[in-house]
Amino acid sequence: MDSNKLIAFLVIVVTLLLHGNNYTVVEAQLSQGFYSSSCPLLLPIVRTAVTSAVAFDPRMGASLLRLFYLDCFVNGCDASILLDDTSSFTGEQNAASNHNSARGFNVIDNIKSAVERVCPGVVSCADILAIAARDSVVTLGGPRWRLNLGRRDARTASQAAANSSIPAPTSSLSQLITSFANLGFTAREMVALSGAHTIGQAQCRNFRTRIYQETNIDPTFAATRQQNCPITSGSGDGNLALLDSLTPFVFDNSYFRNLMSQRGLLHFDQVLFNGGSTDSIVREYSQNARVFRNDFAAAMLKMSQISPLTGSDGEIRMSCGRTN
Ligand code: HEM
Ligand SMILES: *[C@@H]1O[C@H](CO)[C@@H](O)[C@H](O)[C@H]1NC(C)=O
Repeated sequence: MDSNKLIAFLVIVVTLLLHGNNYTVVEAQLSQGFYSSSCPLLLPIVRTAVTSAVAFDPRMGASLLRLFYLDCFVNGCDASILLDDTSSFTGEQNAASNHNSARGFNVIDNIKSAVERVCPGVVSCADILAIAARDSVVTLGGPRWRLNLGRRDARTASQAAANSSIPAPTSSLSQLITSFANLGFTAREMVALSGAHTIGQAQCRNFRTRIYQETNIDPTFAATRQQNCPITSGSGDGNLALLDSLTPFVFDNSYFRNLMSQRGLLHFDQVLFNGGSTDSIVREYSQNARVFRNDFAAAMLKMSQISPLTGSDGEIRMSCGRTN
């Protein structure tokens, strides 16, 4: 073999090895610096956009946090919830928990457009949603957690999986514990994550039964909520109430103080403090804001890493509402 042929042979061998590595041996993982050279402006762009979206609509921080949770609980944080339905495709946006309820899609689309202008084809919608949720909490005074990036976007979505993975607001404590355990969370982490209801709003249809029929509710609180949520199903279904009326736009531990005084808005909320095994955790978080902040941040980091698509799985969507 002459030297030119030898070099050509070595190039082929090395290429095959690297190629093989990419696809089989090295399992790509999320990392903090994933976009530090490919899109250094990513974090400031998202932070600025989230801050102004929340300034324009104070509820938006809550909506972006929830959107991320609704995405992560269905086959991982892969932006599946962002895929719009079409005549030939049914995604997650009209699943039971999301229909007429999940919001913030426009904000994510706008951030994606801004990011595409500076680093086209590089940053996934799944990562943009993960950063936007974190920044929303920080903007509202909550804790910051580490952002590991490098998620890729799903090529599909599942309405059936969304219906079965996202717990209903009528769930019992044991159903909640099971739903979260299915994704690897302890009961304590479930309670910490539920502290997200220290911000945001819910529709009358989701708390009507609680304020008219349940007995583990503060009567004054129930009467106040009844004023804007008619007893008859079908009227005022979409009327909104604050999940935490003490400090609705501050990410603090007052959600747990509400539960201690039977002022949880959703059936699901009060279930966490109703004589069961999670009472002691609720009491602890209500008394110690610091412990709640730390536990919430740790649980969010964990949630943000539920089965991400990495390496060559999935794709980097051009537009968050549809696959490439
Ligand atoms: C444990 C089971 C959970 C149930 C049953 C539940 C249920 C609900 C329901 C029914 C609403 C009101 C939706 C509406 O009326 O349109 C809501 C709102 C909200 N949820 Fe949850 N949730 C749960 C867990 C979580 C978690 C883990 C997070 C985030 C980490 C979260 C964040 C939020 C936020 C921020 C809102 C307010 C959204 C807005 O104002 O746009 N929830 N949740
Ligand atoms: C999911 O739930 C919604 C609302 O209850 C229902 O209309 C839809 O048919 C369900 N989808 C699947 C695939 O089960």
